[in-house]
Amino acid sequence: MTEEINFTQFYKLSQIERRQKLADELGLDEADLTALTNGLSTEQAELMIENVVGQYALPMGVATHFLINGSEILVPMVVEEPSVVAGVSYAAKLARRGGGFLTYSSDPIMIGQLQLLDIANFDEAINKLKAIEVELFRLANHDPVLQKLGGGAQGFEYRTFPNTPAGPMLIIHLLYDCRDAMGANTVNTALEKIAPKVAEVTGGRVNLRILSNLADQRMAHAECLIVADPLAREGRSGEEVARAIFEAWAFASVDPYRAATHNKGIMNGIDAVAIATGNDWRAIEAGAHAYAARSGQYTSLTQWSLTTAPVMNESETRLEPKLHLRGTLSLPMAVGTVGGATTAHPTARTALKILGQPDARGLAEIMVAVGLAQNFAALRALATEGIQQGHMRLHARKNK
Ligand code: MEV
Repeated sequence: MTEEINFTQFYKLSQIERRQKLADELGLDEADLTALTNGLSTEQAELMIENVVGQYALPMGVATHFLINGSEILVPMVVEEPSVVAGVSYAAKLARRGGGFLTYSSDPIMIGQLQLLDIANFDEAINKLKAIEVELFRLANHDPVLQKLGGGAQGFEYRTFPNTPAGPMLIIHLLYDCRDAMGANTVNTALEKIAPKVAEVTGGRVNLRILSNLADQRMAHAECLIVADPLAREGRSGEEVARAIFEAWAFASVDPYRAATHNKGIMNGIDAVAIATGNDWRAIEAGAHAYAARSGQYTSLTQWSLTTAPVMNESETRLEPKLHLRGTLSLPMAVGTVGGATTAHPTARTALKILGQPDARGLAEIMVAVGLAQNFAALRALATEGIQQGHMRLHARKNK
């Protein structure tokens, strides 16, 4: 796509010029430009939820400088908080020197949960279910289009809870490949299809049939390397600032009170892309925070370490070892690029175009890279001038 240099002055353009630049660089059409300014029509809003009385507008910005797996990516973000778009763009610019973001993801497997009660013997019930898994697969694969695309039921897991406040429970996990859909409707339908057979075979009683937002079979990972030198500020060397950022991360890794705020900063970036692309940010939030507590102690979602890596010297004659911060972020990432608001909302469709029409895994990976960038930007600000200064600069601009 575009050369990075083309977007370095993007923030200096007027809004009209920025839209025109996006249109020129990415081939956006009139409908896209209208979607950016007009958003959702009254009629479209009426079809989305109940008792509609209007539409609520938020600013959409575009974060620049992202290099992800060697591709230039512009990131549309919808957010009401100042400094978020500028922060991720700054972090992405620094990360480019270390090669940008490296990302990967698992297959898009969601977990559906079926709650089975009144089971006298867990082992017997599980054996009976295992014996009819082929039949359950057939019932669960209710969507021939999804199957044709390689999606559908992938397996079952059985979890037992002998002592709950409501008595013993057998929980059946249906693992379901949702391809490019977020998958809530598909998975819930699959669970409803298998429920009668599960009850019949086990003699148990089915209660809930619902997907889990702890989508830890649908993971996305991002990492980056940030050289310390350019972090130098106000008489402090880049190395000092890098160490202060590392200390800030270490604080979040041990203290849940800090980790909640630290992770909130990560979600500032991720939610903004989720909203821009019409994805369910509450589902992503729920998954992220549950994942952050997976060890029994709520902790930081990111990991940062100090490391030495070679950098070309200024005269470009030899490589020199330099201190770097290495950051990683792995998250459950239940996002889609087809269906729901991603398809129904015209601005979400345009946002996906700006991102280069990624598939669901590609979008998940971009979002995790944005979360990591956001976390770096917040830690850098906190470990140097403090968060208020940046915010206040923007407030000053707003009140001019
Ligand atoms: C503010 O929206 C987010 C931060 O509090 C995140 C953090 O403290 O790491 C700045």
